[in-house]
Amino acid sequence: MTNEAPFPKVIGVSTPKGGVGKSTTITGLGLYLSLQGKKVLFIDLDNIASLTNNLQGAEVRYEHLSNVTHLFKDPEDEQAAPITVSVISDNIHLIQGDSSVSEINRSNDLTIVTALKDNLHMRVPNIESYDYILIDTPAGNGNTLLATLICADLIYSPIDLDHNAIGSLKELTKVLKPVKRGLNKNLQWGGFVINRVKTLVSVLGKKVPHSLGDRAIYESLVTAYGDVALLGVIGLRDPIKASISSGKWISGKDGSAQDASFEFENFCKKLMEKI
Ligand SMILES: Nc1ncnc2c1ncn2[C@@H]1O[C@H](COP(=O)(O)OP(=O)(O)OP(=O)(O)O)[C@@H](O)[C@H]1O
Ligand SMILES: [Mg+2]
Repeated sequence: MTNEAPFPKVIGVSTPKGGVGKSTTITGLGLYLSLQGKKVLFIDLDNIASLTNNLQGAEVRYEHLSNVTHLFKDPEDEQAAPITVSVISDNIHLIQGDSSVSEINRSNDLTIVTALKDNLHMRVPNIESYDYILIDTPAGNGNTLLATLICADLIYSPIDLDHNAIGSLKELTKVLKPVKRGLNKNLQWGGFVINRVKTLVSVLGKKVPHSLGDRAIYESLVTAYGDVALLGVIGLRDPIKASISSGKWISGKDGSAQDASFEFENFCKKLMEKI
């Protein structure tokens, strides 16, 4: 019998549409998990590196250290260096992102999409010490997304209440299906979280969008994907932007901060029920 630690659970975020809160929600999820005593390894696969910038916070600037593209190199190359992991805090470590990730998305060498999974096992120091690996991806359906889907246990999608919301989730489903069928049978889509909603109201104890236009899109999303796929509704709130973009869990005593942390925590809890 072996006493090997289990491999950490891998959670990825993906929505084909840009600017909907992928980096914000995955940063907040990791902060939430770390406050629950879980050890988190973040991987930033976005060339804009918003996750990295969030975690490095407004005040503290860490040295820029990234060899993230090595996660996509031949896993059997014995000369390859270990992946550089930055320590943000005891419970939060980060594989930093940078603009070099775009070359991965431009490459037509398909072996790179399976390399990520093997390199996580083989090249990341002390990988078994983490409880969760959280991966941020850029908008669109590039190689970094495919690579993430191949190694993830769970994927979720933030969405805003735009008329393209349903179409955008459909685009993702098109990629998810073949991956689930062949390349990663364990992959599960946890659902969607509606983010950046201008005004929310409580109806029968549930937070729903206030404006009629937003409410109509909300209803059509729930009808299309079912109530179980709805991971929550999060308002467009300054305390979310301010806290998360400086690598901190949402704080503040005013109503907006309290609503923000309630909505965000609710999303984190719902998502973690799926894994
Ligand atoms: N609930 C929210 N309340 C206020 N601001 C938010 C909220 N969610 C996200 N934002 C802000 O909206 C902007 C876009 O969010 P974010 O960078 O997380 O989106 P993204 O989907 O990762 O974008 P991209 O497609 O460029 O990677 C950021 O400035 C972020 O701070
Ligand atoms: Mg982003």
